[in-house]
Amino acid sequence: MAAIDDNSGYNRMKEVKKFDESKIGVKGLSDSGITSIPQFFVHDPETLSDLKSSSSHTATIPTIDLSKINSHRPTIVDQITVAAKTWGFFQVINHGVPILILEETVNAIKAFHDQPHEVKAKYYKREEGKGVMYSSNNDLYRTKAASWHDSLQAWMGPEPPEVEELPEICRKEVVAWDLHATNVAETVMELLSEGLGLEAGKFKELTFSDARVLVGHCYPYCPQPDRTMGITSHTDPGIVTVLLQNHVPGLQVRHEDEWVDVKAVPGGLIINVGDMLQIISNGEYKSVQHRVLANSCKEVRISVVIFFNLSKWNEDGYCGPLPALLSPEKPPIYRNFTQREFVENFYSKGIDSKSLIEKITIHS
Ligand code: OGA
Ligand code: NI
Repeated sequence: MAAIDDNSGYNRMKEVKKFDESKIGVKGLSDSGITSIPQFFVHDPETLSDLKSSSSHTATIPTIDLSKINSHRPTIVDQITVAAKTWGFFQVINHGVPILILEETVNAIKAFHDQPHEVKAKYYKREEGKGVMYSSNNDLYRTKAASWHDSLQAWMGPEPPEVEELPEICRKEVVAWDLHATNVAETVMELLSEGLGLEAGKFKELTFSDARVLVGHCYPYCPQPDRTMGITSHTDPGIVTVLLQNHVPGLQVRHEDEWVDVKAVPGGLIINVGDMLQIISNGEYKSVQHRVLANSCKEVRISVVIFFNLSKWNEDGYCGPLPALLSPEKPPIYRNFTQREFVENFYSKGIDSKSLIEKITIHS
């Protein structure tokens, strides 16, 4: 990689490293009162010109009311199936998790990011895959332009971290949220499984909720929100994602070639389909691009995301479209792939959209 990126002599990698080694995060930069962002956060003109293009129609992601899940199950299966096939994103309400728990979770993650530099710096690292990690931009060294967020990540399953590893300020809440969100995800997975004509318990049996990463994102005020992103446009790699956010806006979903704002419904939880679910459903459910705008509000935006993924791959080490969904009329549209391919694809670059799906699509 060239050390000098352009004619001005700007040494990008050096600046990135300096920022990373300072462990200050974008929250620290923001709190320091800077009025312009470092150059390595500036995105290319193509990305920036697209920031203004918001939806002209007033569409919004579907809301699914889970309160009648027993009395009106077929209707709810139908609603969730349509949402997963068209939007790839939906919001669930009356999911059974008390509002107080949602508030406590968001507040605890906010409290973590609000701590003084010295306290947070102890958790700052880049070793992924287990335990707990706090960093700015998970893909800082893999991406072309950094984005305006910091994250606290915890690998909650299949092997949870030692409780003491979790920062004390949000320990209780993170453990509780993992349980509550997993319950909601499992309920949703039952409905999604039924929607494919499979038994309700099929996804659980396939361990789709066992590998879990909890990420507490912090999007502080950005002094130049028109020059960077909160999170670059991407699709999530796993099965499903459950997202809890505070009231500060920023999340957008790609729908019918437009960016649509995802407005937080009080008490609602956002669920989206990941690449892996698109693949195992043989393209029935859609993994859809989304992004977060850099935060222009003085108040910090907080989101708490749990990525659900399978922990047990097939005995032959492969994963692919579920055989039960295939027939001569419905041949597989993706080839099988290994866990290694999945992991290597993810870590070979910054977050992106559907790169694994593209690699394994069968072109007939
Ligand atoms: C993600 C993501 C959105 C948000 O972490 O994959 O899309 O609102 N986050 O934080
Ligand atoms: Ni995402």
